[in-house]
Amino acid sequence: MISLSDFNHDHSPHSIAVSVKNLSLTYTTSIEKKPTLKSRLKSLGRGKKHTRVVHALNDVSFDVNYGSVLGVIGSNGAGKSTLMRVISGIVPPTKGRVEVYGSVSTLLALGVGFNPSMSGRDNVYLGGLAAGMSSQEIDKNFEAIAAFSELGEAIDAPMRTYSSGMFARLAFSVAAVVEPDILIIDEALSTGDAKFKEKSLNRIKELRSADRALILVSHGLATVENICNEVIWLNRGEFMMRGEPAEVIAAYRKFVNAKKNAVTDEDV
Ligand SMILES: Nc1ncnc2c1ncn2[C@@H]1O[C@H](COP(=O)(O)OP(=O)(O)OP(=O)(O)O)[C@@H](O)[C@H]1O
Ligand SMILES: [Mg+2]
Repeated sequence: MISLSDFNHDHSPHSIAVSVKNLSLTYTTSIEKKPTLKSRLKSLGRGKKHTRVVHALNDVSFDVNYGSVLGVIGSNGAGKSTLMRVISGIVPPTKGRVEVYGSVSTLLALGVGFNPSMSGRDNVYLGGLAAGMSSQEIDKNFEAIAAFSELGEAIDAPMRTYSSGMFARLAFSVAAVVEPDILIIDEALSTGDAKFKEKSLNRIKELRSADRALILVSHGLATVENICNEVIWLNRGEFMMRGEPAEVIAAYRKFVNAKKNAVTDEDV
């Protein structure tokens, strides 16, 4: 369950912003194999069905305090994006709970509410509304958001025509202007070009504040070490470690290198 409690924007530093308790999430996907000509002749057109079960998160618990910049690291498929989706309320947990302490309008997960078939302009409104702004407030801030994105005329093109960097630019620009109390940034930095990366990094540094909580999911370990004040590490849905950035990153690096050297064909 996701529950929101309104603290009237009066977040004292070190009070809890997000609490994740014994969170598990299992994806169950049914896969229908497309019949080949040979099998079609055999089975008269019936595709074979089977289910793929992925334990994307397994009994994960941690808190994020106001004033904190939390880095989330781990290999591909570790469950990082899944965790962010559950925290932002897009996916319900299979087990456990997430509590968000802030007003309904305070949590923004970058680009999560965007609709690719709509224009960038329309998505600024979607994203802004998702972050709790009124359409008048978005009207007022639209030019600033568009300017920050530096998308130019592309702002009126459908987002499905955007490169992933352009997508990330627009998502980040909404967040940069809206200034939400709780901001979740999943990989947005890594897809921008060098210039935009630096600009967004600087904006994130400015957004660090005692009454705001930032959660940054990234494979950019140097960036994480540079701007976060604590880090959690996930691996295959398991919560591995939480602590000082340098300490957790070193443990993660060691783990990945050990796996690389082991005789295994598994991904690290
Ligand atoms: N919508 C979905 N349906 C089924 N399985 C999914 C879905 N989304 C993710 N998964 C699976 O859940 C696991 C965790 O995926 P997730 O996207 O959370 O990983 P991640 O840590 O964000 O990885 P990356 O570093 O590649 O972004 C993976 O095994 C993935 O295949
Ligand atoms: Mg991800």
